[in-house]
Amino acid sequence: MPLPIDLSGRVALVTGVSNGLGTGVARMLAKAGAGVAGCGFSPGDSTGAKAFVASVEAAGRRALYRRTDVERPGDLEALVEAAVAEFGRLDILVSNAGRNVFTGAEHCAESDWQRNLDLNLASHWRLAKLCKPHLEAGGHGVVQIMTSNHAYATIPGCFPYNIAKTALTGLVRALAIEWGPKIRAVGIAPGFVETPGNDTWFASFPDPEAERQRTLGMHPAGKLGTCDDIGAWSAFLASDFAAFATGTTYVIDGGRLALLQDS
Ligand SMILES: NC(=O)c1ccc[n+]([C@@H]2O[C@H](COP(=O)([O-])OP(=O)(O)OC[C@H]3O[C@@H](n4cnc5c(N)ncnc54)[C@H](OP(=O)(O)O)[C@@H]3O)[C@@H](O)[C@H]2O)c1
Repeated sequence: MPLPIDLSGRVALVTGVSNGLGTGVARMLAKAGAGVAGCGFSPGDSTGAKAFVASVEAAGRRALYRRTDVERPGDLEALVEAAVAEFGRLDILVSNAGRNVFTGAEHCAESDWQRNLDLNLASHWRLAKLCKPHLEAGGHGVVQIMTSNHAYATIPGCFPYNIAKTALTGLVRALAIEWGPKIRAVGIAPGFVETPGNDTWFASFPDPEAERQRTLGMHPAGKLGTCDDIGAWSAFLASDFAAFATGTTYVIDGGRLALLQDS
């Protein structure tokens, strides 16, 4: 007996759809039946923006793309207004946009610290606040915040990114207890996902393929994640099947956190 995830009639707002994980989230939400409003830093005529619109429309759903800087509160307001004007409702927020700010605790400049807080922490809170009344109105409100396995364990040099990602797990708890039961709030903490950024990471090693195999060896699942793996989780967590899921963050990392370093 099939158990389909059915989000038909619902509308999602997803940030960071022009590249990486957001592409998979938008695609899988659309495949489950949701219309998708999305944003990225790139302009609307960029390859990434066009690919987002094409992937949602290929699933038979409506798409809206708006160039947005999530660090700017005014841009966030305009994004939510545009999404509601286009679709008339909002049921699912996937606050995903973010970038690595990797400097290290000793040499992190004040400007990097502040930028990381604005982009990787405050933007998620600000956007969730703007979406709240719309999410409540539809009766199926879900906020999903994209954090990281760096919220739980990290490596030298990933400061201050890991600080913001850890704080997001607290944001998820706060939204769940303050905005429930009308709105559920969950975090998604991906591990190593195949994205252009991680290709660049492998390419920075003298032997990229050897590094890739070494990384794969740290994954009990025997694979790295894909954007669609994360998108499928997002679709499930947005659905009524996940009605009992709120206030917590789900680590999706192929088992890497379960493995001790000396294994
Ligand atoms: N990849 C991984 O393995 C991994 C693991 C754990 C967590 N994550 C998290 O997943 C999220 C997405 O990461 P990713 O790897 O998919 O990164 P990515 O490939 O670099 O894509 C980031 C997306 O966010 C957008 N973006 C960045 N800064 C923005 C801003 N100021 N305003 C609006 N949009 C902005 C980008 O837009 P443009 O491309 O148009 O500039 C792009 O669409 C991040 O929160 C990241 O921390 C990723």
